[in-house]
Formats: sequence, C-alpha cells, structure tokens
Amino acid sequence: MATVALTSQSLGIAGVLLITIVTIETGGYYLTKVARGAVELTDFQKAFARAGHAHAGVFVILSLVALPYADAAGAHGFWGWLARTAIPIAAILMPAGFFFSSMGSGRTKPNALIALLWIGALFLAAGVLTLGILVLAAA
Ligand code: HEM
Repeated sequence: MATVALTSQSLGIAGVLLITIVTIETGGYYLTKVARGAVELTDFQKAFARAGHAHAGVFVILSLVALPYADAAGAHGFWGWLARTAIPIAAILMPAGFFFSSMGSGRTKPNALIALLWIGALFLAAGVLTLGILVLAAA
C-alpha cells in the first residue's frame, strides 16, 4: 500500500489543529447549556454563539483538508505559508468575531469587534484562493 508523507510544516499545523478541537468541544458543551435555557442569552447572542461554534468546527476541518493539497501542489515560500495558515487564522478570527462582538448582558447587535469576523473572512478568501490557484497550477 502506498503511503503519503506530509511535509513537516503541514504535520506541525495539523497537530495544533487537532488539539484545538478539544476547545470546540467545550464550546459545544456551552451550547447545550444555551439550548436548555441554563444560560440567559438574547436571540442575537444565541445566533452568534451558534455561528461561532459552527465556523470554528468547519474551518478547522477545512484547514486540515487543505494541508495535503498544499503539499501535493508543492506549495512553498510565502504562498505556501499563506495556503497552509490563512484558513487556520480565519478559524481563529471569525469565531472570535462572533463571540467577542456579542458579549455583554442583553446585547442585541454586534459591537466593534465584529471587525474580527471580516478580517478573518479576508484570510479565508486569501487562503482558499491561493490554495485553489496552486492546486490548479500543479494539475
Ligand atoms: C464571510 C463569511 C461568512 C459569514 C459572515 C458567515 C456568517 C454566518 C451566520 C451569520 C450564520 C447564521 C448563524 C445562526 O443564525 O444560527 C452562519 C451559519 C453557518 N455558516 Fe457561515 N458565514 C460565512 C462563511 C461560511 C463558510 C465559508 C462556511 C463553510 C465552509 C460556513 C458554514 C456555516 C455553517 C455550517 C452554519 C450553520 C450554523 C447553524 O446551523 O447554526 N460559513 N454563517
């Protein structure tokens, strides 16, 4: 059976990403408390808590999926760094934007920290565009 070796750069990022899933589990536990009414939140705060948790999980998985493609495409240098780390950066910034912009008793709209969400979205776009172009170029 053929084995696929990842670069040490990708393995290091993958290890950190796998460990961070434990923090997403704690977020899921918090959401079970929100769902059963043990935590008082506005509808807006519930939506942002759910979105923060959903995007953290989805983007960590997307980050892990991206790594073998970056390696297969021979991504290196600045573009290789961007292709491997921009999605993980988005996985931090976008949930942080959802969580931090909705904190505070009785809040019904986001505060200025919503900017983290949009900065994260830019990293996500940069990561998927860079990786997509590198993969196409290697095809
Ligand atoms: C600029 C980019 C994005 C923004 C601003 C955004 C924002 C949101 C918002 C506001 C919700 C609704 C939360 C709720 O009311 O429950 C949501 C849900 C969701 N988004 Fe995104 N999203 C973005 C990109 C993405 C991408 C690229 C993915 C997947 C790769 C994704 C996956 C999801 C999922 C799975 C949910 C469902 C959460 C639930 O059912 O509670 N989002 N998003």
